[in-house]
Amino acid sequence: SFTPSAFVEETIADLKSKIGNEKVVLGLSGGVDSTVAAVLLHRAIGTQLHCIFVNNGLLRKNEFQNVLKQYEGMGLNVKGVDASDRFLDALKGIDDPEQKRKAIGHSFIEVFDDESKLITDATWLGQGTIYPDVIESISVKGPSATIKSHHNVGGLPEYMKLKIVEPLRMLFKDEVRRVGASMGIDPELLGRHPFPGPGLSIRILGDITKEKVTLLQEVDAVFIDGLKEFGLYDKVWQAGAILLPINSVGVMGDERTYEKVVALRAVASTDGMTADWVHLPYEFLMEISNRIINRVKGVNRVVYDISSKPPATIEWE
Ligand code: XMP
Repeated sequence: SFTPSAFVEETIADLKSKIGNEKVVLGLSGGVDSTVAAVLLHRAIGTQLHCIFVNNGLLRKNEFQNVLKQYEGMGLNVKGVDASDRFLDALKGIDDPEQKRKAIGHSFIEVFDDESKLITDATWLGQGTIYPDVIESISVKGPSATIKSHHNVGGLPEYMKLKIVEPLRMLFKDEVRRVGASMGIDPELLGRHPFPGPGLSIRILGDITKEKVTLLQEVDAVFIDGLKEFGLYDKVWQAGAILLPINSVGVMGDERTYEKVVALRAVASTDGMTADWVHLPYEFLMEISNRIINRVKGVNRVVYDISSKPPATIEWE
């Protein structure tokens, strides 16, 4: 059976001999996989590891600042790059889901390329690829495989001639979490819900503007904070809010309103390949709906997504 401490010990020794005194660049996403990969590499080669954490402007509310602080606290050699405007520019006027993913993928590679050039003589690219990603990029499936290609060798431009190091390549997600725990990584970080690379852009149906992103960040924060407050966060595999491209009529005081509709989604799953909608308690849904409508200006209606995968997908785009 799998023993995290033995894995850590062997992997560190292996990384040391493989990398020697060369430099590694690694893109952190705030997620479990890239974080655990970074900590392993950091243990093996210390400051020869250079991490880059990009804000694409499509993260959750305050996520960039909070996660960056957490990384610094863990002793990682990390550079935060706020490229929000660049991503939002690249997304301007695009409403097709696959075009959004393409625009984000390209911008990500450009930013990462610019930043990694500043790290002179890096010869390795570190990645948090795990076993299901390896399988998935072999059997190309739907939309999610497309963007995931930028995480692996195939998606990188020819001129970034870096050797690839992927210490988690043979592990499943639960093993990655156990490895992380055995290295003392904050359990809260290890228990975080998955979050898609294209971020909130695929939860804003239609075109993306800064105003829509800010609105959805507020709604999402009310929902996610609520799940934590009510002890429901760990019972859900993934959750988020979706901003619909329609207005609906409402009433506030004695005024008629005509404002946005948001959908909430919470699913149970083990690997994201199939998923069931979670039967969140009605009292919770009622409280969250009230909070969202009262606190977030511009929203007058909240709906709950009761579709499972298949035939629906987890994301709406
Ligand atoms: P779907 O919507 O395909 O989502 O049921 C399955 C899981 O994959 C995530 N997802 C993505 N992750 N880039 C990513 O890195 C993507 O383009 C992408 N699309 C979906 C989704 O959040 C869920 O966890």
